[in-house]
Amino acid sequence: MKIMRVYFISFLLLGVLVQLCNGGITSGYLRAADLPDDMPLDSDVFTVPSGPNTPQQVHVTQGNYEGNGVIISWVTPVKPGSNTVRYWKENGKPKSQAEATINTYKFFNYTSGYIHHCIIDDLEFDMKYYYEIGSGKWRRRFWFFTPPKPGPDVPYTFGLIGDLGQTYDSNRTLSHYEMNPGKGQAVLFVGDLSYADRYPFHDNNRWDTWGRFVERNAAYQPWIWTAGNHEIDYVPDIGEIEPFKPYMNRYLTPYKASGSISPLWYSIKRASAYIIVMSCYSSYGIYTPQYKWLEKEFQRVNRTETPWLIVLVHSPFYHSYVHHYMEGETLRVLYEPWFVKYKVDVVFAGHVHAYERSERVSNIAYNLVNGLCEPVPDESAPVYITIGDGGNSEGLLTDMIEPQPSYSAFREPSFGHGLLEIKNRTHAYFSWNRNQDGYSIEADSMLLLNRFWQNTKKRLLDAV
Ligand SMILES: *[C@@H]1O[C@H](CO)[C@@H](O)[C@H](O)[C@H]1NC(C)=O
Ligand SMILES: *[C@@H]1O[C@H](CO)[C@@H](O)[C@H](O)[C@H]1NC(C)=O
Ligand SMILES: *[C@@H]1O[C@H](CO)[C@@H](O)[C@H](O)[C@H]1NC(C)=O
Ligand SMILES: *[C@@H]1O[C@H](CO)[C@@H](O)[C@H](O)[C@H]1NC(C)=O
Ligand SMILES: [Fe+2]
Repeated sequence: MKIMRVYFISFLLLGVLVQLCNGGITSGYLRAADLPDDMPLDSDVFTVPSGPNTPQQVHVTQGNYEGNGVIISWVTPVKPGSNTVRYWKENGKPKSQAEATINTYKFFNYTSGYIHHCIIDDLEFDMKYYYEIGSGKWRRRFWFFTPPKPGPDVPYTFGLIGDLGQTYDSNRTLSHYEMNPGKGQAVLFVGDLSYADRYPFHDNNRWDTWGRFVERNAAYQPWIWTAGNHEIDYVPDIGEIEPFKPYMNRYLTPYKASGSISPLWYSIKRASAYIIVMSCYSSYGIYTPQYKWLEKEFQRVNRTETPWLIVLVHSPFYHSYVHHYMEGETLRVLYEPWFVKYKVDVVFAGHVHAYERSERVSNIAYNLVNGLCEPVPDESAPVYITIGDGGNSEGLLTDMIEPQPSYSAFREPSFGHGLLEIKNRTHAYFSWNRNQDGYSIEADSMLLLNRFWQNTKKRLLDAV
């Protein structure tokens, strides 16, 4: 009997071990996979601000390479209106002024409002600024903070949101991000914004509603944009053959500042982070502009100035859900060797409507004949975090590759958002918060040790 019990226990232990060898944790928390509904057009979050031609859909993003610039954007529905932005430092005088450009676009039978973009790139670092747009009685006032000047030990917190859409769950994701006591200072958005393309003729009115929905956060802190497949809006049947037309008219990026030729891929410094944004729906093969740009870009990163090297790309390199499995494979084959060589700390992706965090692995040894085509543990490799769980109307992905592959550390099909809290050059803390419990719950987390600075006492001493 006793022996039997010992056997039984060893058997259990073995079972646990096998489980570990197979992969990490598949969360026991399973949310009902019902499809979330888009919020109806008359929802409070889509309310048009009162007044005859009042600015709406206000949002800010980083406006230059170093972080002391912003691009302020808004739409006026009826006529161009004022294109002036007035801005000033908190407690500061005098007010400065800058002028926005104005554009409109047509999409099938939709005509956009007047889209304003104002680039301001001579701000002070680490400062609260107020800004005002519109004119007269219907003027609107907002504020934002510029980040501290790039430097190795500047603490900074990023929010992570992906595949947001405009459902009740999207609203919950945004509310949870806003209520998170960790308080993100800027959002890294990993693609798929409005999901307007799910409507007949890609009804671009849903781009407008989305702009009004996110304004409550995006007007006050920069959202760093990544293009996803729902931004392509390529519909030859109705004569719409210019990819990314609505997205690129509405959401600018400071791409020229990093030597990119396209708004779809670019990089920025922000506090202690260097953020590279890739476009997986633009050509990226060898010799293409994006490839050549990225090749130079990695060499340009100065880890003493910006220790944290972060990549944003819509389609994940490593995830273990059935849907979209291996869609990022050609990208991975091309770019993973650089991620390892240049010690990228973390790669954030969306696309897969669920959450997953990888182990530090790489799969770069294969040369067509050696058969070395399995991911292996690699301390120079980034952690891959899939966070396409903003809550859009396509719903969650619950089918997973079984058994859980060894590269997968934690996975859970729930809606949520993430926070990346950079403490100093060696330490950062990532947490993922699921949304459906009525308040922020940290459902997964990881201490990230910087790939460049970890275990390098000498480097630390050198830097002093
Ligand atoms: C655009 O075309 C669709 C389909 O014919 C129609 O339902 C919609 O009302 C039209 N919108 C405008 C602004 O004309
Ligand atoms: C969206 O969330 C906000 C903030 O939590 C809330 O005030 C609002 O009523 C919500 N709207 C909808 C349509 O769920
Ligand atoms: C990297 O950045 C540090 C800190 O800003 C600076 O002192 C150093 O000169 C830079 N190195 C290069 C090669 O530019
Ligand atoms: C960096 O931050 C971590 C976590 O807060 C702390 O334990 C560590 O001592 C810090 N390192 C330095 C060099 O300040
Ligand atoms: Fe996607």
